[in-house]
Amino acid sequence: MRLAVLASGTGSIYQAIIDANIDVAAVLVDRACGVIDVVNASGVPCLVVERTDFGPDFDRNRFSRDVVTALTAADIDVVAMAGFGTVLSAPFFEAFEGRVLNTHPALLPSFSGWHGVRDALRHGVKITGCTVHIATLEVDAGPILAQAAIEILADDDEASLHERIKSTERHLYPATIKKFLADLETHT
Ligand code: GRF
Repeated sequence: MRLAVLASGTGSIYQAIIDANIDVAAVLVDRACGVIDVVNASGVPCLVVERTDFGPDFDRNRFSRDVVTALTAADIDVVAMAGFGTVLSAPFFEAFEGRVLNTHPALLPSFSGWHGVRDALRHGVKITGCTVHIATLEVDAGPILAQAAIEILADDDEASLHERIKSTERHLYPATIKKFLADLETHT
């Protein structure tokens, strides 16, 4: 099974995936971002499908098809999203149906969307966490594979809380990816 990671952020989750000795065949990014340096340092091919349009006319299907074309050319079977900044649409989820994983920095179904950490803080919950799930067309709504709870401390701000959540994601996500890949190997 050839795994690709999709990322747009700092690359710390990607780093955790390779530190866990998971074979990553390629990383795909949609913009200039910190992850590119991390990927280059790891010696894994970095594919760039640049998103140039962030306006209301953004052609999401076309962009999703371009992502599929790049991943198919790299012979990818399974995709792990790790802070990817573009919501992909049907052409992507049809091409990789049931084979896309995501990690979300909140306990889904609570606090889905881009600001899961901020929204949990604002809501005043005392416990939040992270969720690894199968990604589907509906954002942050696919079947849940693993979760971990994290206590919100009185002096937490978004940055401190997100960093604590990420330190858990860096264990939970690689472990869940490994199990998912192993299960896929046994059932195919
Ligand atoms: C993680 O918290 C992930 O759940 C979210 O984006 C963050 C990625 O972190 N979707 P990094 O850019 O790899 O440090």
